[in-house]
Amino acid sequence: MSDEDADVELEARLREQEYFRPPSKFVGQANASDPAIHDEVGEFPEGFEAYAELLDWDEHWDETFDGSNPPFFEWFVGGKLNASYNCVDRHLGERKNQTALLWEGEDGEQENITYQDLYREVNEMAAALRDVGVEEDDVVTIHLPMVPALPVTMLACARIGAPHSVVFAGFSASALAERVDSADSDYVVTIDGYYRRGEFLEHVEKADTALEEADRDPQVLCWTRHDEVHDSADVSDEYTMVPELLEDHRRETVEPVSRDAEDPLFLMYTSGTTGKPKGCQHRTGGYLAYAAATSKHVLDIKPEDTYWCAADIGWITGHSYIVYGPLALGTTSVMYEGTPDYPHKSRMWEIAERYDVDIFHTSPTAVRMFMKWGEEHVEGYDFDFRHMTTVGEPIQPEAWLWYYKHIGDEDAVIVDTWWQTETGGHLITNLPALDDMKPGSAGKPAPGIEPALVDDEGEELEPAAGKAGNLIITRPWPGMLQTVYGNPERFIDTYWADFSDTDSDDWTDWNYKAGDGAVHAQDGYWRILGRLDDVMNVAGHRLGTMELESAVAEVEAVAEAAVAAREHTEKGEVPDVYVVLREGVEQSEEVREDIIEAVEDEIGAFARPANVHFVDDLPKTRSGKIMRRLLENISNDADLGDTTTLRDPSVPERIREQVQGD
Ligand code: WT7
Repeated sequence: MSDEDADVELEARLREQEYFRPPSKFVGQANASDPAIHDEVGEFPEGFEAYAELLDWDEHWDETFDGSNPPFFEWFVGGKLNASYNCVDRHLGERKNQTALLWEGEDGEQENITYQDLYREVNEMAAALRDVGVEEDDVVTIHLPMVPALPVTMLACARIGAPHSVVFAGFSASALAERVDSADSDYVVTIDGYYRRGEFLEHVEKADTALEEADRDPQVLCWTRHDEVHDSADVSDEYTMVPELLEDHRRETVEPVSRDAEDPLFLMYTSGTTGKPKGCQHRTGGYLAYAAATSKHVLDIKPEDTYWCAADIGWITGHSYIVYGPLALGTTSVMYEGTPDYPHKSRMWEIAERYDVDIFHTSPTAVRMFMKWGEEHVEGYDFDFRHMTTVGEPIQPEAWLWYYKHIGDEDAVIVDTWWQTETGGHLITNLPALDDMKPGSAGKPAPGIEPALVDDEGEELEPAAGKAGNLIITRPWPGMLQTVYGNPERFIDTYWADFSDTDSDDWTDWNYKAGDGAVHAQDGYWRILGRLDDVMNVAGHRLGTMELESAVAEVEAVAEAAVAAREHTEKGEVPDVYVVLREGVEQSEEVREDIIEAVEDEIGAFARPANVHFVDDLPKTRSGKIMRRLLENISNDADLGDTTTLRDPSVPERIREQVQGD
């Protein structure tokens, strides 16, 4: 395709959308209602001090920003604080009897945890962790589902200065083992099981298998979903049972450890283009300040609100916008254990009504699912959202409009927030009272954030030119990751090397590469187009093609495999696997199942391939590089495009016929 054709196609896809004004009843009460916030926070770096001032510090910082060793930037240098203190203790004076966490189990069980309760539980768990030997700076791996034990364990770790590494409960035993080894972690916290679609799902067995596979030999602490271990779960005698351990620490308190602003608060593993998942390391002061400030300005959270982010705490969204941001602000945060369609497709709205939720936060993939189920499942439920958020992938204007009308009753604001595991918090999003909404656009940069677009050579595109480019961020911000745990070179290679002058020790020569394509429209709004690298977005979960391919390659029968992203109406993208079998191996249902099982074992059921195509060759360049783009075109019924650079140009057409028929 010529550049001109590409532009025409892009314009067609980006048909200008109309704007929607925020309702005046929202504007009147918003936390961020003065446009001067952009100039104030935009004073670099002092502007971000207002973010840090939202927190309680044991010692004030000496220097707001240290850019002397790029790209290893430091924030609020010399300051000391504790994240658990900021999310729990400091609220006891004013609101100890206010609910901090409203938890609903899938089985209908409910728990109302006040700030006072949370204080007690976090302290006891902190004492328990110390009891088993956890010391400051030890990494604790947490493999827990959406139960109160998860935020309690995270905050207990934060209290004693032990960075946590939460592994999403849907990840497999192998994925857990890999993360335990990679984080040099000697502790794993798990649970006997939890509920999924009405079934008790045994979970602790993943820890058993992970221990067999891991090089390290971590101690395992096991919570229980009910008072007793569930009948169907088999917990090893070697594991420490948390409920029993807590008995020894009833009413104990643990002094929050004063952490340097730059001490790590947690690791969060995420997928990239190459190699194994990377441990994004987030600092204590800058991260917490950024999560709190964006929760306040973008999500408009106030202490008296009931706020529900329907994400999983096992991903960054839940870290920043279920746990750290909302609790730092002292609000009431809702947590739901299960699936949105159990026992019926109105479960979400039933919960929203029951707790009188004010602010609702979800993903485009969920919105598309609700839309497919139909508005009849929403009607009749009496809830009234003031504010709604989407995150994780671009939202199609059609889905946005449905969300606005049927969930928001045309009376709630919507923010489409663009950010990443690495960024700690929102980077591109409208401020809801200040900017009109435009379906499908994330909108303007958050205060203090300076995005730009560059071409593949790193030349900056003209601002607001309506052209697509590589999204970069040209100025540091407090929420950004510190490094990739244990691998500073990888940190530089992945995020900085492409568009920075890496020889320079002047921080202004360094630009953060997001890995996304974006368009900067004439009205100054940013529209995110999606990943430019081999990273897929399956139902809002980020997955590296390489990771999927190496899982498939584990299967004996497989000689070679490539994975392509196929567009999917609800999930956004799903993996299609193209496999060449070893000589003499026949394709069969059994091999297909082995491949699917391998992906579920290596990564988790959420990564399950949609299709496995057995082919006789893969499209490769003359130098042997697999052209995944061609496979993607085949999976998506698109034109094949240019195949002349291939070693064997007939391969894609053969695959196409095989996959699509003639
Ligand atoms: C990738 C980051 C940030 C929390 C959830 C995902 C995509 C994220 C948006 C949005 C379009 C988005 C990007 C980004 N993405 N938010 N509002 N519009 N795309 O975190 O797993 O680190 O994934 O999600 O492609 O790079 P993550």
